[in-house]
Amino acid sequence: MTYILGINAYHADASASLIRDGKVLNACEEERIRRIKHCTGFPLESIKWCMRDAGISIDKINYITINSDPQKHLYRKLFYTLSSKINSKFLIEKFKNKQKRSSIKNTFHKNFPDSQIKAKFVFIDHHLSHLASAYYLSPFDKSTVVSVDGFGDFASTAWGLGEGQSLKINDKIFFPHSLGIFYTAITQFLGFPNYGDEYKVMGLAPYGKPKYMNEMRELVKLLSNGKFILNLNYFLHTKEFIPIKWDKGAPILGNHYSNHFFKLFGMPRKKNEQLTQKHKDIASSAQFMYEESFFNLLNHTYKLHGSENLCIAGGCGANSVANGKISQRTPFKNIFVQPAAGDAGGAIGSALELWHNISKERCSPLRSSYLGHSYKNNQVEEFINTRVSKELKNNKNFNIEIFSIGDKLIPTEKDLLFFISELLTKGNVIGWFQGRMEWGPRALGHRSIISDPRNSNMQEILNKKIKKRESFRPFAPSVLKEEVKDWFEMSYQSDNNVPFMMKVYPIKIDKRKLIPAVCHVDGTGRLQTVTKEENGRYYRLIKTFFELTKVPMILNTSFNENEPIVSTIDEAFDCFARTKMDALVIEDKILLRK
Ligand SMILES: [Fe+2]
Repeated sequence: MTYILGINAYHADASASLIRDGKVLNACEEERIRRIKHCTGFPLESIKWCMRDAGISIDKINYITINSDPQKHLYRKLFYTLSSKINSKFLIEKFKNKQKRSSIKNTFHKNFPDSQIKAKFVFIDHHLSHLASAYYLSPFDKSTVVSVDGFGDFASTAWGLGEGQSLKINDKIFFPHSLGIFYTAITQFLGFPNYGDEYKVMGLAPYGKPKYMNEMRELVKLLSNGKFILNLNYFLHTKEFIPIKWDKGAPILGNHYSNHFFKLFGMPRKKNEQLTQKHKDIASSAQFMYEESFFNLLNHTYKLHGSENLCIAGGCGANSVANGKISQRTPFKNIFVQPAAGDAGGAIGSALELWHNISKERCSPLRSSYLGHSYKNNQVEEFINTRVSKELKNNKNFNIEIFSIGDKLIPTEKDLLFFISELLTKGNVIGWFQGRMEWGPRALGHRSIISDPRNSNMQEILNKKIKKRESFRPFAPSVLKEEVKDWFEMSYQSDNNVPFMMKVYPIKIDKRKLIPAVCHVDGTGRLQTVTKEENGRYYRLIKTFFELTKVPMILNTSFNENEPIVSTIDEAFDCFARTKMDALVIEDKILLRK
């Protein structure tokens, strides 16, 4: 038996995953345990959890893989450093980070002092890890693979071919040119300073028009070989040290845009300043520019391999709007994006890359993202009898009723699903906690908050009761896969496979008015397709809602309130108790607010 522990360390979204004989046993992001969004550093808690979940000790691990190779592109780095006036602080910080990764063996020994760690440590190139996380988990035997990112191991973009057991990189785009850096600079300029805020610009874009394309083309130049270059006058990452501070484990980025941005777009928006039409037009133009660059690259990679299959990874792989247009704008017909396309996914990717180097056995495709921890019904029962009972006793204002499958009112699962569906149709907002936690940034029906997509006030209700997020950001639907073609515009039959909510498609014009809560301002929806085989009770819930309403979908948003998605029943209950959520379903139990 061969155990490989893959980790993403000293990048944002630190994570760990355990692979046994090529099978992904589990995976976890550090942020879910330490409760710090995009938590970085050494993923100690995730590693410990992976071991506990598999019931083995770290002594049993044969290999530990890290999704970064400090030795990669050394000559290129050296040449760039000597030939450019790169800031010395930048070099010192890079060197420190490199040292941390190089000394990871010591870090393991320090954190597991009583263990006899025998594992061999293997460093896997950052982009090879991204590409492996997509290709090996895909259903394809042959596929073009593309990673689009900020930076990792001195490169921002990489592409190649996966075929059977092997994965080869054809080419890369190196530092300092990066679409990730371009999108981050625009995000910061538009007043969204937090690490990972790029999705807000993507959500804002449909409110604007691409009026700033001349300016965008001044920032990014497309080349005929599919590559692109940044106009470095407009960016700071080669000129000065851009601090990446780690505030109690959360990454804080310095500004990436230079003062030359002001000549193109005027002054930057302050964090809480009103969003104007101009800001929306800049967001629209940036998304447009990203798509132009992305499709230029993809069309080039298609010519190299001729395969109609495509696997996408890297931080920009989370741009679900662009992903949804791939089959229209390129010859690719079958597209796979794994649920943790960003750096967290490198934990699985590095481990799978190593596995396919040492074994002839190809791993199975990833059919669901449910790789995290779960609770048995007796644990839920105990939780209700202790923690929930205590809260009811101590807090007189907290009035709930508790039901369970098997009760007179809800004898079977079918009754629970009907009860919850009816609650949804009456405008209730429900926490839905089932099975293993999702891997990746999307809640996919195991740690979700659900509501009725037909309710035109639902966005406002959700924001008032729980989410308190920017009003321009859309909510997403979970849709029965077999019904999706009747509701969404899709170019190919294969487009109807979106299990990880990584693509946005236009909603059919005649259906838009029926589901206002999940229809974005441009008539699109970021859907999750749900199947009987992979989604179990969640599928059956939506099916019941469909039977009641003739609408085969529910609104699905992540189970959290300005924090990482809840992972434990304690966190789910805390979120339920402190917000105005109407009900909470944990496995077979329903907690109904009176
Ligand atoms: Fe990356």
